[in-house]
Amino acid sequence: MRIYFDHNATTPVDPSVVELMARVLREEFGNASSVHHFGQRAKAVLDEARSAVAALIAAEPSEIVFTSGGTEADNFALRGVAEALEVTGRKHLITTSIEHEAILNTLKVLARRGWQTTSLPVDADGIVKPETLAEAITDRTALVSVMHANNEIGTIQPIGELARIAHSRGALFHTDAVQSVAKVPVDTRALGVDLLSMSAHKFYGPKGAGALFIKRGARVSAILTGGKHERNRRAGTENVPAIAGFGAAATLAGRKLDVEASRLRALRDRLEEGVLARVPGTAINGAREPRVPNTTNISVDGVEAESLLIALDLEGIAVSTGSACSSGTLEPSHVLRAMGLPTHRTQNSIRISLGAGNTDAEVDYLLGKLPAVVTKLRSLTRTGTRG
Ligand SMILES: Cc1ncc(COP(=O)(O)O)c(C=O)c1O
Repeated sequence: MRIYFDHNATTPVDPSVVELMARVLREEFGNASSVHHFGQRAKAVLDEARSAVAALIAAEPSEIVFTSGGTEADNFALRGVAEALEVTGRKHLITTSIEHEAILNTLKVLARRGWQTTSLPVDADGIVKPETLAEAITDRTALVSVMHANNEIGTIQPIGELARIAHSRGALFHTDAVQSVAKVPVDTRALGVDLLSMSAHKFYGPKGAGALFIKRGARVSAILTGGKHERNRRAGTENVPAIAGFGAAATLAGRKLDVEASRLRALRDRLEEGVLARVPGTAINGAREPRVPNTTNISVDGVEAESLLIALDLEGIAVSTGSACSSGTLEPSHVLRAMGLPTHRTQNSIRISLGAGNTDAEVDYLLGKLPAVVTKLRSLTRTGTRG
């Protein structure tokens, strides 16, 4: 038995997406920039995918720029705005302490180049309070970037309100929606954002395909320069099969979203209740609502997250710690730390992220295995068998 509970890391590619990509790879090999028949066929594939991706987030197709994924989209938003707005004298960027590394590490680079940066705190629930943005923003702020849903705990930020505050001071607003697109409805107009990042592999599309939504008129410089691809906004011959897969995954997601969100919410909530009831010393991290329906982050007292992850993997259950693990030492999650959780909780938490294919029987299997696994790890820790 192998159970995959790590859909926020990546998802299996939907079989219909695989089929489409294989066909495009075989048959639509033209360069989408070529004027001849082969090129125009490839361009038609791109156009169709662009419309599908735009429809999923209530955008215009011309506002979608394809990238190599979420990381590039985040880099594009931050570096592209920084380059475009530097001449205006706005040299301040605002983000939050719980962003993905694609944002945090890009901001560090910009800070080294002389940009003033501010990292907004979150409350104990993992939510950014709009007042903290109102206090931090100035007339020199070029861009505010706040993620829509957090990858570790799933909480959803009040993007509409935050974007209004940014605009009231003349700043642009970007949201990293990599973990919210296809899990909850995402409407660029209702959110009021200028820029939005997304990534296909988080919703049953291929890895290495993503997009940055750039609202018509928003000033963003290209960061990849070269040919005139993507209306001069992102150079490089387009990966037509991957983009076709991205478009197909977007269409599927739009069709299934409501039904799948309710199904996963019910499954996730039952899983949480089951864990809290059966395993003493457990707690859910972050606000229960608003939250994406597939994600839960659970602290287990007296058990190192990494040991729990390995023990569950031996039982055939794949979960995640949701934080970086390097050279055998588990770094406490920067998200849980930003929420002010004590060390014993930041180091003892696992992320379970559900997705298509997960069933009631799989949740029952986890609930059946977890109590004994935790009891065993706790006894090993107590008797000092493990250092
Ligand atoms: C919130 C968030 N942003 C950005 C990324 C990066 O996306 P990609 O893997 O497509 O580069 C991820 C992926 O884990 C993510 O969770």
